Amino acid sequence: MITIDEIRRPIAADLEAFDSFIADNFNAEGDLMQEMLTYALSSRGKGVRPMLSLLAASMSKQKEELHSEECGKERNCSKRTYLAAMLVEMIHTASLIHDDVLDEADERRGKPSVNAKWQSNMAIILGDYILARTMSLGMASAQYDLISYIGTAMATLCEGEVLQSQHAQCFDTTRNDYFEIIYQKTASLLGVSAALGALSVGASREEVDRMRKFGEAIGIAFQIQDDILDYNRENNTGKPANNDLREHKITLPLIEVMERSSEERRKEIIDLLRRCHEDEAAVDELQRIVTEEGGVAHAAETMQAYIARAMHLLSKYPDTPYRASLMKLCAYIAERDR
Ligand code: FPP
Ligand code: MG
Repeated sequence: MITIDEIRRPIAADLEAFDSFIADNFNAEGDLMQEMLTYALSSRGKGVRPMLSLLAASMSKQKEELHSEECGKERNCSKRTYLAAMLVEMIHTASLIHDDVLDEADERRGKPSVNAKWQSNMAIILGDYILARTMSLGMASAQYDLISYIGTAMATLCEGEVLQSQHAQCFDTTRNDYFEIIYQKTASLLGVSAALGALSVGASREEVDRMRKFGEAIGIAFQIQDDILDYNRENNTGKPANNDLREHKITLPLIEVMERSSEERRKEIIDLLRRCHEDEAAVDELQRIVTEEGGVAHAAETMQAYIARAMHLLSKYPDTPYRASLMKLCAYIAERDR
């Protein structure tokens, strides 16, 4: 099983510098704002987005082969690359704080969510504060080419969130809707994370576009895997299993089962889903149907196809430890249980 530490190894020194960059730049004046900020930043998660920016930057810059023991010990990235990684990571952090308010989620990564600890109104302000600091740091750096990607990415995240809630209220998510939602809420920002890494080191437009496609492909795979893990009661995500059912979210495993069902059966499934918010027996029943009728297996196959697409895009780059790490990231996404 591939570990995140293994993927990080060639950029270990850069990630350390990146963490200091965040710590130095995210400080609030008021005690409560600082307390909430420290809490949110200390449970940032795996850091897939900044990792992607730093690896994409290093791979795009590194043309010759390097021996693996030579990289990771020294910093390789510039402040411009750290800024790119900061922009995507902090947009992501703020969006999850807001998402937990919208989803009324009490837990995030095995710890109380910000809204559970300080109420929703404070969580909204904290998310806004992080966005405001991120944009002001971006503007102060005057790296406007990087920032222009960020505005679009933020708007796309909001579109995805609204589209998802709209469909969750109507119980009418189709396969096309699902792919549009996961593109908007997950793949777009991962695409921007990889593209900004490449742009930060002056890669050509073609290479920036290729990195964006790479990030989007792993982003789609990442979200499908997230939706699969929601049906895995032994997962280590730190989130209770079957939350999507309780929130009336129709994801790929369930879509597949509904597409295979008769009109009458589909109505029965939707009736079950309507009850999931307050009826755990309905949750158990849908969990069983989706697993036994091949919904989860189908989603896993679809996810693998996106991983293969991402791996193909990497084949255009020379064999460096950075490319090897991105390949490992693809494998990690496909096999992760957290
Ligand atoms: C997690 O989805 C949510 C997102 C990836 C995006 C959330 C976006 C917003 C709330 C819009 C606000 C945007 C900004 C820029 C502040 P999920 O609920 O499926 O995943 P989860 O299980 O991890 O909560
Ligand atoms: Mg959520």
